[in-house]
Amino acid sequence: MQNAAIAALGLHFCYIPFSVQPDDIGPAIHSLRTLGIVGVNLTIPHKERVLQHLDVVAPDARAIGAVNTVHNEGGRLTGYNTDGEGFLAPLLAEGFAPRGKTAVILGAGGAARSVVWRLAGEGARIILANRTGERAKRLADEANRALGLSSISSISLGDAAGLVSALDGADLLVNTTSVGMYPHVEEEPAAPRSALHPNLTVYDLVYNPVETRLLTFAREAGARTINGVKMLVHQGAAALRIWTGANPPIAVMEQAVIRALGGGCQTSELRSERISGED
Ligand code: ATR
Repeated sequence: MQNAAIAALGLHFCYIPFSVQPDDIGPAIHSLRTLGIVGVNLTIPHKERVLQHLDVVAPDARAIGAVNTVHNEGGRLTGYNTDGEGFLAPLLAEGFAPRGKTAVILGAGGAARSVVWRLAGEGARIILANRTGERAKRLADEANRALGLSSISSISLGDAAGLVSALDGADLLVNTTSVGMYPHVEEEPAAPRSALHPNLTVYDLVYNPVETRLLTFAREAGARTINGVKMLVHQGAAALRIWTGANPPIAVMEQAVIRALGGGCQTSELRSERISGED
């Protein structure tokens, strides 16, 4: 999607993958200076460990404790986290204004963290629902403390009645877990189908398949749906904007992702090609 955007913008960059071992993140980041690389995205397991190797860390990346984008300006390395913006932009594009709304977030891992910080910062009330209830409580407590709020609460997914009642009063449901991700597309969603309703916007961060089982159920229940490709594209677009200052062509990027996913569901051949060719 980045190379498609770069080509459409007529810029002279190229975006390539580097496979970096966890212990090599320091020298790898330093090599941006040595090689004059304009920037990189980082993914698991580098997002947290990279912070100590940067000159500047943007405030929201510092607060979340994770960086997914680094910009090299003449050897000065700045870390950003574009996941929050990537998450929020598709919601705003759908006309969903978070202030005063209630959101149920499934999961309490790294992806949930970015979502919680951004949604709470935008004034939404949040209920974190996680398989391991204790982990949800820890994240809720930490976010309330860090943001000076008391609007983030937590429940365990095992509390079926609590989850149904939370969804009943919710405006937004976000899946940040890997449930339903290829190849486990038939996996039962973490939120019960019968609790989905037309006043909900359902946002699944899983992007493969593009329409997860949760999104199918949501669509059938009359809810508005947002797929994970949208967040993937917008977090990438935000990074491209940081590196180049250009206005990224969102539709071109989205088409490139859908094409790479084989029109919706990544096949095993495509997967093995990616693994041997890119990773
Ligand atoms: P990420 O950084 O992508 O969020 P993570 O930190 O491994 O990944 O978090 C994965 C999240 O998905 C967790 O909230 C996990 O629940 P637990 O904390 O109980 O492990 C959730 N998750 C993964 N598989 C799940 C499943 N089958 N059912 C429910 N939740 C699941």
